Amino acid sequence: MNLQEEATSVGYIARSTPKGVELITEIQRLKKEKNAVILAHYYVDGEIQELADYVGDSLGLSQAAEKTEADLIVFCGVHFMGETAKILNPTKKVVVPDFNAGCSLADSVPVAEFAALKAKHPNAVVVSYINCSADIKAMTDIICTSSNAVQIVESIPADREIIFAPDANLGRYVAHKTGRELILWEGACMVHIDISLEKLAVLKQEYPEALLIAHPECKEVILKEADYVGSTTALLKFVETSPKSTFIVATEAGILHKMKQSVPHKHLIPAPANEQNTCACSECPYMKMNTLEKLYNALYYELPEINLPEATRVPAYKALKAMLEVSA
Ligand code: 13P
Ligand code: SF4
Repeated sequence: MNLQEEATSVGYIARSTPKGVELITEIQRLKKEKNAVILAHYYVDGEIQELADYVGDSLGLSQAAEKTEADLIVFCGVHFMGETAKILNPTKKVVVPDFNAGCSLADSVPVAEFAALKAKHPNAVVVSYINCSADIKAMTDIICTSSNAVQIVESIPADREIIFAPDANLGRYVAHKTGRELILWEGACMVHIDISLEKLAVLKQEYPEALLIAHPECKEVILKEADYVGSTTALLKFVETSPKSTFIVATEAGILHKMKQSVPHKHLIPAPANEQNTCACSECPYMKMNTLEKLYNALYYELPEINLPEATRVPAYKALKAMLEVSA
C-alpha cells in the first residue's frame, strides 16, 4: 500500500482550519491542554522548529520519542519518523501534520524484494537505516541512523555478512570507514544526491577559505571532497566548535535555521542543487509538506494518526531497541 492509499484507508482527509484562529498561540495552547509534545526534524521550516519541544536529527528524535511522557506526540518530519515514534510508544497517540510526507529512501524498498535479498543471504545480519518503513524495520536485526551507522556496523562480529539498506551512499561511506564489506541496497535520498558537484566547485573557488561539510547521504564524489562528514546534529556541532568561520553546508537547507541561530557571526552557504531543481538550495519536498496550519490541525483533530499492527511493531521495536542500546 502506498502512503496515499494508506491515508485513504485510515480515513484521513485534509481538514480546514477553523476561521480566525491565530495559529501559533493556538498551537501553544492546545499543546498544553492536551499534554502533547511536538518533535521536529531540522529539515522542517524554521517556524515549526520554533514551536517544537525538541528539534533534532533522527537519532536524537528517536531518543526523545522514547523518553517522552506526553499523551500525544505530534511528529513534524516525514512518515517513517512518525512510525518510529509509534513503534516506541504503542500506548500513546502519534499524529503527523501530513500523512503523505514520505521519503525517497523509505519508498525504495518494497517488502517482497527485500525478503528476496534476505533469502539470498540467510546468515547475514540486516542493518537498516532508520529511513525505511515499519515493515522493513520489522525485517531488520538492527537499525542505524547517520549518527551511529559506523558504530552499529562495528558492533557486528567481523565474521558475519551484513546487508545494509536502503541508503547505498551511506552504506559505501560506512564500508569505507569500517573496512567491512556490505551487501548494499541501492536506495538514495533524492535531495542529497541532487547536490551539484560542479556548482560546489564554483563555490569553492569563490570562497577558498570555506570548509565543505556534508551529510553521508551525499554521493561519494561529494563526500571525497568534504572536509567533514556527519549527521545533521554532527554538522551543527561542527560549525559551532570549528575555529573556521565559513562553511558550505551540503545537506538539506532546513539545518541552516538552527546553524544561523547558533553561530550568527559565521558565514553559512547552502550547497547548491542541480539545474532541474527549482530552488537554488537543497530542500526536501516531503519535509516542506509540514506547515503551521497542518500542525495546528493535527493537534486539534488528533489526526492523521499513525497506527501499526503489533505483528509489525514488535519486531520493528526489537530492531530499534537494539540500536538505542548500542547508542545509549
Ligand atoms: P539525520 O537526521 O540522521 O541527519 O538524517 C537526515 C535525513 O535525511 C532525515 O531524513
Ligand atoms: Fe528522505 Fe531525503 Fe527527505 Fe530525508 S531529506 S526525508 S532522506 S527524501
